[in-house]
Amino acid sequence: MQDRWSRMSKQRQGTFLRSVVVAAVALLATQAHGSPATDPLAPAGRWEGNMGGSASTPPMGWNSWNAFRTEVDEDKVMGAARVLVDSGLAKLGYTQVNLDDGWWLKRRTGDGRLQIRTGIFPSAATGGKDGTSFKPFTDRLHAMGLKAGIYTDIGRNACSQAYDLHSPNLPQGTTAEREVGLDGHVTQDINLYFREWGFDYIKIDACGLADFVPGSELVKKQDYRAMAPLIERNSINRTDIAAVRARYEAVAAALKAARPANDYVLSICAWGMANVRTWGKEVGNLWRTSSDITPSWTSMLHNFDSAAKRPLYAGPGHWNDPDILHIGHGDFDAAHPVEVRSHFSLWAMINAPMLVSYDLRNGPASFLAVLGNADVVRLNQDKAGHQGVVTYDSDDAQIIVKTLGDGQRKAVALFNRGASPAPVTLLARHLKLSDSAPVTLRDLWSKQSVTFTGEKAFTLAPRETLVFEATGTRQLENGVYLSEIPGSINVAVDGTRQPQPDPTIHRMIDPWSNTRSGGSRPQYAGWGGAQADTTPFGQTLQVAGQAFDSGIGILADSRLQVKNDAGHAVLTASVGVDDSTENTKQPVRFHVYGDGKLLAESPPVAFGAKAHRLRADIRGVKVIELVVRGAASDGAAPVVATWGDVQLVRAAGR
Ligand code: GLA
Repeated sequence: MQDRWSRMSKQRQGTFLRSVVVAAVALLATQAHGSPATDPLAPAGRWEGNMGGSASTPPMGWNSWNAFRTEVDEDKVMGAARVLVDSGLAKLGYTQVNLDDGWWLKRRTGDGRLQIRTGIFPSAATGGKDGTSFKPFTDRLHAMGLKAGIYTDIGRNACSQAYDLHSPNLPQGTTAEREVGLDGHVTQDINLYFREWGFDYIKIDACGLADFVPGSELVKKQDYRAMAPLIERNSINRTDIAAVRARYEAVAAALKAARPANDYVLSICAWGMANVRTWGKEVGNLWRTSSDITPSWTSMLHNFDSAAKRPLYAGPGHWNDPDILHIGHGDFDAAHPVEVRSHFSLWAMINAPMLVSYDLRNGPASFLAVLGNADVVRLNQDKAGHQGVVTYDSDDAQIIVKTLGDGQRKAVALFNRGASPAPVTLLARHLKLSDSAPVTLRDLWSKQSVTFTGEKAFTLAPRETLVFEATGTRQLENGVYLSEIPGSINVAVDGTRQPQPDPTIHRMIDPWSNTRSGGSRPQYAGWGGAQADTTPFGQTLQVAGQAFDSGIGILADSRLQVKNDAGHAVLTASVGVDDSTENTKQPVRFHVYGDGKLLAESPPVAFGAKAHRLRADIRGVKVIELVVRGAASDGAAPVVATWGDVQLVRAAGR
């Protein structure tokens, strides 16, 4: 080295020294704040939430599946469309009319163009070189002021080709003709559906990536082309998350190209698999968070739970989807008005899509009255898009609070999950309202009002859900807690490493396999994700013995984005390592950025240290980013970090 150094020219020595200094500075900077190119925790300085598609509020309308499965036809669909218009539901927002599985005949040999089963969709028999077209069908829906949705699969074959083998409406023909899914045809099919046929919405299932297993009976008997599964329903570790995501991303890109005006909706139907509950928001407008709903109370609980604990992952343009409503059938038929109202109210509170799916032509008026409850629809369609947060949680009863608009009004649902009457006491504090000022509750079903101070006791009938709009004096008169405005938050990086199935989702007896296994196992990755008002593992937020009713719980090595649309001036928080952390050894640092610039940071804080008070001036800032760094050594558990009482306030305060 000595020799080579002395042989270098002065100029080269200078260049070399300069490059060493530059590299060292860059390394230090990366360690402190990260380099945007390579470091996922580096502030982006701009909103990174998915901007593709048009679903500023949760989609509403009708879907054919729960009503008719594959035995759908044009009369049934147009009948549903007619009821939506004639009943006034369309005016309330129920404008989406979605075909599900069963519409296709085959993929044409030669040019690969999909052919429609004209026996059940007669208006599609247009003839000519295209053979068939849905354009007359979508034209009719559009002329009625409605929107049209279609269904496909991300693989080669659809779910009915695995699970509805008795159906008269399965694709027919050779193996290749029966490959009606998107695999190998993304651009062709998306252009056909959106440019030629005029659809506005697409639901993309995923059985093609899961169920056509090489060597399986299904593949052999039905003569399908096998595909090594990318999704294994019982094993997140054996699922190729990146490959599944990449396929949906390719569709999102094709949709953007086909509809540059952004007038489309992409519904991802991967049933909570492949960690879609974490990345769905970056690719689509809604993503199923669980398996198919069945018309049983416990299936409804299961699907509700799969979305209810993910408020930070949803917001305008991107929604958790616990599946279409099962009103009209089984535990939700006309003989179960309490269950019908609960199912509907719960979906409304968590900003689920409001897609009904019974035979609207023959349903009772009582259902139309439920669907037509404009007060409850308004909660679901509130523009701010803040999903309700479970603010009291138990297996027996829950309290769910949803911020409306800018935070001045709240909706609250009291939910009895069980089969016995449940005593439920609502506190003003649950609503983040002052407990020394009156709170008025307006019941959105009975339309009665009641006023209380501090707390109010209720007894809920079995399976009953009460929904109120609440007004009172806000705890933060001059601002909001971040946990009140989940729709303004984008979880850019949540700090989870190897995805873990969520054990808190109601474990129903599986409707398909019944008890033919060792038990109903947790299935959907996302455990440990960011949470409003609890830790990522459902514990009380607490730092060195100080508990926080409000705050954000998240793992270290995470980055949250917050839109400052309301133009707040100051962010404050009490931050630290949560008392519940499994990893008690690793200190972490909290950083606050505004439009990419560092505004405030904590020193390294360790388990047991008192919460550190952070204050950042966010005047004029559009996107705030909250970063926690503290890479645990290999094999160690991530640290649980608490943004206690994190809030945005208007005027510069303390
Ligand atoms: C899957 C989906 C359902 C429905 C059927 C159609 O099971 O999850 O919502 O689309 O396929 O076959």
